Amino acid sequence: MQKKLELFAATQLKEGGMKRVEVEGKGVLVARLGERFYAIGDKCTHMGCSLSEGTLEGSVVTCPCHGTRFDVTTGEVIAWVSKYPLIGKLTSFMKKNEPAYECSIKDSMVVISIPEK
Ligand code: FES
Repeated sequence: MQKKLELFAATQLKEGGMKRVEVEGKGVLVARLGERFYAIGDKCTHMGCSLSEGTLEGSVVTCPCHGTRFDVTTGEVIAWVSKYPLIGKLTSFMKKNEPAYECSIKDSMVVISIPEK
């Protein structure tokens, strides 16, 4: 079962922007690409830095700490620890995608679907 939670007014996030929100005690990164919104975990799966403090280019967010890149539409790792390729290679066994959550717009509000506990 999924439950839906209203996050914020869609107008609060401009095209190509991203922001961090708290959803039931967990940080979630919400990104806007065109008229669509996407949500993935905000805590980098490498060492926990906040992805919302990184940079978003197209659908790819780059972690500010060591450069791991994730696709915000799927949560998938695109490049692991890209600032330090050797460390990235040695720690590739740690590679883990971000959880991805469905986002929709209802009555001009961004709504996230999360698993019911
Ligand atoms: S904490 Fe994100 S790349 Fe290391």
